[in-house]
Amino acid sequence: MATEELGMQRGRGKSMQYAAEKLTEEKVFKDPVHRYVHVRDLVIWDLIGTKEFQRLRRIKQLGTTFLTFHGAEHSRFNHSLGVYEIVRRIIDDVFAGRPEWNDDERLLTLCAALLHDLGHGPFSHSFEKVFDLDHEELTRAIILGDTEVNKVLLRVSADFPTEVAEVIAKTSAKKLVVSLISSQIDADRMDYLQRDAYFTGVSYGQFDMERILRVMRPREDQVVIKKSGMHAVEDYIMSRYQMYWQVYFHPVSRSAEVILTKILHRAKQLFEENYAFKYEPIHFTSIFHEKMTLEDYLKLDESVILYYFQIWQEEADPILCDLCRRFVNRNLFKYAEFDPAKEYKKLAKLTALFEQAGIDPDYYLVVDSSSDLPYDFYRPGEEEERLPIHLLMKNGELRELSRESEIVDAISGKRRTDHKLYYPADFLDDDTTDKEIKQQIRALLE
Ligand code: NI
Repeated sequence: MATEELGMQRGRGKSMQYAAEKLTEEKVFKDPVHRYVHVRDLVIWDLIGTKEFQRLRRIKQLGTTFLTFHGAEHSRFNHSLGVYEIVRRIIDDVFAGRPEWNDDERLLTLCAALLHDLGHGPFSHSFEKVFDLDHEELTRAIILGDTEVNKVLLRVSADFPTEVAEVIAKTSAKKLVVSLISSQIDADRMDYLQRDAYFTGVSYGQFDMERILRVMRPREDQVVIKKSGMHAVEDYIMSRYQMYWQVYFHPVSRSAEVILTKILHRAKQLFEENYAFKYEPIHFTSIFHEKMTLEDYLKLDESVILYYFQIWQEEADPILCDLCRRFVNRNLFKYAEFDPAKEYKKLAKLTALFEQAGIDPDYYLVVDSSSDLPYDFYRPGEEEERLPIHLLMKNGELRELSRESEIVDAISGKRRTDHKLYYPADFLDDDTTDKEIKQQIRALLE
C-alpha cells in the first residue's frame, strides 16, 4: 500500500475492510509443538512479514541455554507464532459465540499475542542488565515508532497500535484480553513451557494443554477454569516449577550468562577508557554512548553479537580476549554453593586473595542469584501483584486455585532462591604463579 493511501486512512474510524480481510487461502506454518499454526487474517500475515518480526528469527528463545541443552536453539519467532496459535484456538474454538466474549476484540488479542515479545534483544537477560534496557519498553517503542509493524497496525485504525501496546503492557482496560496473554495461566507460559521442553529434550514441561483449553471460560475481566479441569492445571503449575529449576536456572547456563554479562561490561569499560579496538565496534557505539536509537537497536541480533565475540578473541586486552574465548569455546566458569547471608566474610576474603593472585575479582569472582515463585494468590500492595487462577465451580461461584488444590497450596507463595559463586577453576589450577595463594583460594571454594 502506498504511503498516501495510508495517510488517508489515519484519523478515520476502523478500516473495516482491512481489519476483517481474510487471505484467499489459509496459510499454515509447520510447528513441532502445535503441529500447525493457522493464519487466515491478512493483518496477521502482514505483521509476520515485517522486518521487525522477522528479526525474532535471529534471537534465541533461551539465550545461553543451548550451551547446556544443545537442542535449545529455537527462536523467539517460533515462540511468538506459538502464542498466537494458542490464543487463536482459545478464541475461535472455545470462546466464540459465548455471551461473555466480545468477538470485536479478536484481532486485538491476536495481534498482542503475536507481538508480545517483539522488543526482545540478543541474549536479552544479560544485555538489558548491562545496558539498562527494558524489552517491554522496547516492544512499545517498536509498535508505536516509525516501523513496518506500526504501519500495518495503523491500517486497521489510528488507535490500533496504542491499543495493542496497552494490552501487551497490561495497562489496557480490557482485562479479559490482557489475561489471555499475561496471567498465571496464559498463552505465553503455555507455549514456552512446552516449546522449551521439546527443544531441550527434557520431560518436565509437558502437561495436557488440550484439556486446559477446553475448560477455559471468559468471565467478565478474567479467564477462569472449570473445576473439572483442576488436575490439568495442577500439572501445568508443577511443570512450570520443574522447568524453572531444571532448565531455566540450570547452573551451567547461568555460568555462560555470567561470562556473557562480563564480556559486555568489559567491552563497555574499554570503550569508555578510549581503548583502541583492533576493529571499531560500530554496532555498539551508540549504546556505549548511551544514545541508542530504535534503528540501532533493531540492527542488533545474536549473529551480530557472536561476530564481535569471535573477533574480540584476538583483542590485546587479556580480560576481553579470555572471556570471549571462554564463551565461544564453552570453557565456562565452575561454581560453588554460596549463602550470601552467612558467607559474606568468605567472599571478602576470596576477593582479596583473587586480587593478590592478579585475577580481577570484578570479572572472575561472580555471585549469581536466581529465584522464582511457582504460583501465588493475590497479595495487594506487594512488589508484583499477581492475579490468581480462579476455578469456576458447578454453582457458578469462583474459588481461588490454592484453596481447592492441596498440591498448589503446598507450593504457592513460596519463593525459592538459589545463589552460586562462579570462578575460573582453570586459572586456580595453574600452579606456575602464586601457588600458595591459589591453594588458599581452592581450599575456601571446596
Ligand atoms: Ni513470550
